Amino acid sequence: MMNCKKTVILITLFLHVIQINTMDNPQKTAIVIGASSGIGKAIAQELVKSNYIVAVTGRRIHLLNELKNTNPDNIIVHQMDIEQIEESRASLSALLQLMGHVDLFVFNSATWAKDPADFTKDKEISWPCLERMAQVNVAGFVGLTDIMLEQFTKQGYGHIVGISSVDAMRGSAAFPMYCACKSFMSTYLEGLRNKYIQAQIPINVTEIRPGWVQTSFEMGPEAYWVATTDEVAPQIVESIHNKEKVAYVTRRWRLIGWLLTICPDWIYNTLGGF
Ligand SMILES: NC(=O)c1ccc[n+]([C@@H]2O[C@H](COP(=O)([O-])OP(=O)(O)OC[C@H]3O[C@@H](n4cnc5c(N)ncnc54)[C@H](OP(=O)(O)O)[C@@H]3O)[C@@H](O)[C@H]2O)c1
Repeated sequence: MMNCKKTVILITLFLHVIQINTMDNPQKTAIVIGASSGIGKAIAQELVKSNYIVAVTGRRIHLLNELKNTNPDNIIVHQMDIEQIEESRASLSALLQLMGHVDLFVFNSATWAKDPADFTKDKEISWPCLERMAQVNVAGFVGLTDIMLEQFTKQGYGHIVGISSVDAMRGSAAFPMYCACKSFMSTYLEGLRNKYIQAQIPINVTEIRPGWVQTSFEMGPEAYWVATTDEVAPQIVESIHNKEKVAYVTRRWRLIGWLLTICPDWIYNTLGGF
């Protein structure tokens, strides 16, 4: 029989090993803005599979709670409406206090013209819809990223990921404002990357450019190479793990990205895009 002293020594050693493991491999944490459906939800699920604790945000709390129920120990639900920008910023700061440290921030939320109310009687996108896109896709993105950069600067590390689009590369007749918002995100992320590389601060910046993905995003019959969220999410998380600067999902959209870059105006304006 093991005596009492030996048992105490063994327990102390065991606790010590656990403590070292926890110090060497503290569990990674992420925040996904806009994880109630579609690509954001799939990214959150994929991160959980990679052993992250993930805070998921959005307006539709019932969907966020459903997501949490799939993995209660690894998911934190945090309701947030980015149209209310000051409240969202305060809400993100409160979430950061709760989480302590954060390794990864994914800005995925976006809005576009969906409902009949988003169009005028002449079938143009209405001003309230244009204003909402500016609030969520541009001001919301900058406002929340700004809070995260403060946190990452304090921590001395971090990773910002923006879910942009192949649409970031050229303006298109169908969605001028949406393309412009994604283009803004793309240029802003490039500027941040440039800043942290020059300052030699280990804050990584990744821009993800999806092509067509089957979600609530309404597609016309012209859509092609349409991927599922189950296909794109692992590719997005792989790009994050590899700290890629810009990643196309699915990968073959790189070809379209390249064509958009080299296409002369006279061809682009005749075709109306790729
Ligand atoms: N699907 C595509 O073909 C495609 C292609 C390229 C890029 N993308 C980009 O992928 C991202 C995800 O879109 P998705 O296709 O997966 O569509 P989705 O399923 O409709 O997801 C949009 C997400 O944005 C959130 N969101 C919208 N308005 C918000 C607000 N005011 N406050 C907070 N969150 C808000 C939604 O959450 P709540 O409604 O719960 O608030 C939802 O979680 C977007 O950035 C989109 O531009 C999509």
